[in-house]
Amino acid sequence: MRSALRCVLALFVLAPILATPLSAQAKPASKLAATPPMGWNSWNWFAGKVTDKDIRQAADLIASSGMRDAGYTYVNIDDTWEGQRDANGVLHTNDKFPDMKALADYVHSKGLKLGIYSSPGVKTCAGYAGSFGHEQQDADLYASWGIDYVKYDLCSFRDYMNAQAPGDTLKQYQIMQAAYEKMHLAILKTGRPMVYSLCQYGWDQVWQWGPNVGANSWRTTGDINPSFARISTIGREQAGLAKYAAPGHWNDPDMLEVGNGKLTPDENRTHMGMWAMLAAPLLAGNNLGELTPEVTSILTNREVLAINQDPLGKQASRIFAEGQVEIWARPLANGDVALAVFNFGDSENFLRGISLHLAQAGAANGWKARDVWAAKNLGPIQDDYKFTLQKHASLLLRLSH
Ligand code: GAL
Repeated sequence: MRSALRCVLALFVLAPILATPLSAQAKPASKLAATPPMGWNSWNWFAGKVTDKDIRQAADLIASSGMRDAGYTYVNIDDTWEGQRDANGVLHTNDKFPDMKALADYVHSKGLKLGIYSSPGVKTCAGYAGSFGHEQQDADLYASWGIDYVKYDLCSFRDYMNAQAPGDTLKQYQIMQAAYEKMHLAILKTGRPMVYSLCQYGWDQVWQWGPNVGANSWRTTGDINPSFARISTIGREQAGLAKYAAPGHWNDPDMLEVGNGKLTPDENRTHMGMWAMLAAPLLAGNNLGELTPEVTSILTNREVLAINQDPLGKQASRIFAEGQVEIWARPLANGDVALAVFNFGDSENFLRGISLHLAQAGAANGWKARDVWAAKNLGPIQDDYKFTLQKHASLLLRLSH
C-alpha cells in the first residue's frame, strides 16, 4: 500500500517533467553552438555599407554556392543596421534595412539563420545606437524579428566603465562582465535560442569568465584584416587557450578573411586550416558575389570542416615552435589526431628536416596519415617524414591508427 502511494506521489512529481519535451528542459544556451558556429558576417567585406539587399544576396549565394550544405548557417548583419529609438525606447532600423522581420523570414526561407549586432554601450563602434539601458527591449525586439545570433561588441561601453570607476581596472572589468551577463539574461528571457557572441577583443582574459556570462563564443583578439601578417599573428597568439574551448563555448580569433585582399592560395589554406585546428567559429567575411572556385573549395573542404566541427570540441595546442615553423595538434572524437605544420616564414621552398612530434601530438610512429588539403593517403608515417613547405604554406594531416 505504502509503495503504491509512493508510486502515485512519484508520478505527481515526475509528470510535469515527463510531459516537458527534453529540448525545453535543457537551457537554451547549452544546446547552441555544440560545435563552432559557421556562417558569414557582413563586416569584413561591406563594413558600414551593408544593406538589406546585400544580406538577401548573401543568403542566396550561401545557398547556391554549396556553402550552406557545407554547414555555413548564420548570415550575420554586423554594425550599421540601427536607426533611432522612438518615444517608447523601441529601436528602429535605418533606411538600409526597411523591414528586419521580412529579411529574417527571407533568410529562414533559404534554410539559413539570421544574426545581428549590438553593443552594451550607448553607441556601437560605428557610432550607431547601442543597447545601453534597453537590453531587454532589444533582446525582445530581436526575438520578435526571428534573430538567431547576437554579436555584442564592447565599443563605447569602455567610456562608461571608465566613468564609473576611474583608474580602477578591477571594478571596470566587473562592470563589463555584468553588462555581458545582462544581455545574456535578456536573451534567455525571450525564450528564443540565440547564439551569444562576445566581442571585447579578449580583455580581462574573457576565456576565463565567458562561459559564466552565457557566451557561446568570445573574441580573443583585436580585429583581423586580410593580410597574412595579421592573420598569422592572431593565429599564433591562440597558444595556451585550448583548455577554455568546449562544446557550447569557443575562443573566437575573429572572422575569416579567406578570399579577401591579396591572400595567396597557400595563405588562404593556412588561414582556413589554422581556424579549423583552433575550433574557431567559421564566419566567412568575403565578397560572395565574387566567389572563385578556388576560394569556394577552400571554404567548403569537407575534411577541413570535419576537423573544425569535430564533436569532441578540443581546440588544438601548439606542440612545437622554432622560428617561423610551428606544429599544432588536436585530438578528434574518433581517436584520430589532427596535426598541422605551419610555415609562417617568408622563405620560398622552405624545407626542413623537422620532426613531426607525433608522440607530443597524441599519435605515434606508424600511424596512418592523410594529407587533408591534398586529399591523399600517405600510409604509415614517421617523425622524420620529409616534406616541403612553400612560403606561408602548411601541411594538415589527419592521423589514425
Ligand atoms: C569592431 C569589431 C568588428 C566589427 C566593428 C563594427 O569593434 O571588432 O568585428 O564588428 O567593430 O563597428
